[in-house]
Amino acid sequence: MALRFSLIFLFSLFLTTSFLVSANGYINGGDDGILIRQVIGNDDDHLLNVDHHFTIFKKRFGKTYASDEEHHYRLSVFKANLRRAMRHQKLDPSAVHGVTQFSDLTPAEFRRKFLGVNRRLRLPSDANKAPVLPTEDLPSDFDWRDHGAVTPVKNQGSCGSCWSFSTTGALEGANYLSTGKLVSLSEQQLVDCDHECDPEEKGSCDAGCNGGLMNSAFEYTLKAGGLMREGDYPYTGTDRGTCKFDNTKVAAKVANFSVVSLDEEQIAANLVKNGPLAVAINAVFMQTYVGGVSCPYICSKRLDHGVLLVGYGTGFSPIRMKEKPYWIIKNSWGKKWGENGYYKICRGRNVCGVDSMVSTVAAVSTSSH
Ligand SMILES: *[C@@H]1O[C@H](CO)[C@@H](O)[C@H](O)[C@H]1NC(C)=O
Repeated sequence: MALRFSLIFLFSLFLTTSFLVSANGYINGGDDGILIRQVIGNDDDHLLNVDHHFTIFKKRFGKTYASDEEHHYRLSVFKANLRRAMRHQKLDPSAVHGVTQFSDLTPAEFRRKFLGVNRRLRLPSDANKAPVLPTEDLPSDFDWRDHGAVTPVKNQGSCGSCWSFSTTGALEGANYLSTGKLVSLSEQQLVDCDHECDPEEKGSCDAGCNGGLMNSAFEYTLKAGGLMREGDYPYTGTDRGTCKFDNTKVAAKVANFSVVSLDEEQIAANLVKNGPLAVAINAVFMQTYVGGVSCPYICSKRLDHGVLLVGYGTGFSPIRMKEKPYWIIKNSWGKKWGENGYYKICRGRNVCGVDSMVSTVAAVSTSSH
């Protein structure tokens, strides 16, 4: 219900925004988005070609359907998603929206299978607040991928386990900073073994493919004694297995973790000092995201996806005719999604709630392992 409402809401806003966009004299569409024009077009003409685009889509992402009925249904969903991508393009002109591997899923299916955080926007009130850091000497651009602290992009498959990838990503970075070694850590351990509950919200417990929270997962990891290597406890993408944690094979340990305030300078300072940060975001624009800096005029701040903040930068926006600062985000939907598995979202106004649930973790250094 809520989702349907928000889609209708988004659509009516799209009508309003397109008016505002032209009234403000922005270049609407511009020269970017060749892919968009090819794939979804700027008008309904291309929707006539939907069968052709669907064929390309199936081939590109290896999609097969069990029956003619299913095929027919998925084609109708695909068509609806082409329309949705066009609406997203209007609402988010500095990014490119179009066909993704999720184009045959309804928004509800997408949320259920590929996200995994369910949390209303709430300012951090947890006990462990990150200390306030100096912000004068922050670099203007920073990317932990350039400093060897980020493992290759992983793929959560159709399991709402994003929270476990956000958690391992942050601990992989922290562990790299404290030991000098980049070790890929096990999400499956969290999926199978972590049932930690959020002390602030009754009944909100980590639940495998049904979602979880990064802070609860740090708490579990602290109590359990650490996480195993990816290779020793590989990802299966299901939560039907039993816990196979072996505490003699711990590869990284949590020393402590804390929440970072909404202040973007503090977020940047914590990122540079402590390594990649676990963050939550509203992922509605990510279903159709192909590339560029996502900066929707309007985006819900309801957090439904856990990701990893690895850096920030600035790029020139031809649409707004000015520098557009952005966050660089590692996602867990494989390398074929977005910009080689990454997402860029603009900084400056908590777009899609990206600044609202940010955690930093520190790892125990090798000497004390
Ligand atoms: C967290 O642990 C790290 C590494 O042991 C330590 O340097 C840091 O002071 C701790 N931070 C807090 C807030 O306790």
